Amino acid sequence: MKGLILSGGAGTRLRPITHTSAKQLVPVANKPVLFYGLEAMRAAGIAEVGIVVGDTRAKIEAAVGDGSRFDLRVTYLPQEAPLGLAHAVMIAEDFLGDSAFVMYLGDNLLKEGIAPFVQRFAETQPDALILLQKVADPSAYGIAELEDGCVTRLVEKPAEPRSDLALVGVYIFTPAVFESVKAITPSPRGELEITDAIQHMIDRGRRVEAHIVKGWWKDTGKLEDMLEANRLILSTIERDVRGTTTECIVEGPVVVGATSRLERCTVRGPVIIGERCHLAGAFIGPYTAINDDVTIEDAEMENSIILEGSSVCSLSARMTDSLIGKNVSIRRSDARPVAYRFMVGDSSQIGIL
Ligand code: G1P
Repeated sequence: MKGLILSGGAGTRLRPITHTSAKQLVPVANKPVLFYGLEAMRAAGIAEVGIVVGDTRAKIEAAVGDGSRFDLRVTYLPQEAPLGLAHAVMIAEDFLGDSAFVMYLGDNLLKEGIAPFVQRFAETQPDALILLQKVADPSAYGIAELEDGCVTRLVEKPAEPRSDLALVGVYIFTPAVFESVKAITPSPRGELEITDAIQHMIDRGRRVEAHIVKGWWKDTGKLEDMLEANRLILSTIERDVRGTTTECIVEGPVVVGATSRLERCTVRGPVIIGERCHLAGAFIGPYTAINDDVTIEDAEMENSIILEGSSVCSLSARMTDSLIGKNVSIRRSDARPVAYRFMVGDSSQIGIL
């Protein structure tokens, strides 16, 4: 069995972060989302993985390399334009050959990993195995209708959904899928949809099985989902405070990198703090992930993600539900006139008091 990870896509719903990074590289609990997918592949016994890349190819390649640090052999498969998930399968045909494969959307996170589904696929040997989970907003996903446990109909982002079972971004296919990805035509959003290709397989009498995912699943395409994924992963961490803490109160599951220094801080887990950070006079509340080389002084925050090299200083109110990019500086200013001063990238969102 091979792996196919899709890491193209513009990540428009995570701008401005995705102006300078790939959405699959935004860290959840200080680890890029994509790495969880790569680790899940390895844990399921997969050794050879193709990564479909688009405009952000250089960044994905710089982060993943040849895959050896994940004990994987990684091949990059360039997609000339984001023409859809079924198009990505089409361009991967030579790489995949006659092997069955797990297709994994690079911005998805699955608590159970993929090993149980790979095992089920091996046992029942269908032409495709799809994973489903109930969602509150079915019109945002590919939706499946079931009859007596069998998939009868699949619709991509239906305006009037007839079911609330969404297609999770992990699929297992035999090479029977290639005929279908070539037969379908672009959807109203101009993409070759994998959802339509799977419907085509059903129409041709191929055996498509569905499995309802019990543990949590997150598509991290937008801020709220990213913060929720961060909370879900942080809920599983264990306390490991290595850095120096002077006059601090550190409660619950808190991870602090060995080279970080905390003074006069209260940290209430779950919280993860990376390497070479300096925190002074700060309150770091639950579900906060602070990446490497971050400075926080006289500020309070919770339920937030802060990326490398940023600083947050002298805030008069608590910061919450925030995603701060790399090398950002947020600080109270004493300059006159008393005024807001911003230098903010395109598509940023700022909530002021
Ligand atoms: C894609 C698929 C959709 C699936 C979703 C899961 O949507 O087209 O069927 O439910 O991933 O994350 P997209 O992320 O392209 O909007």
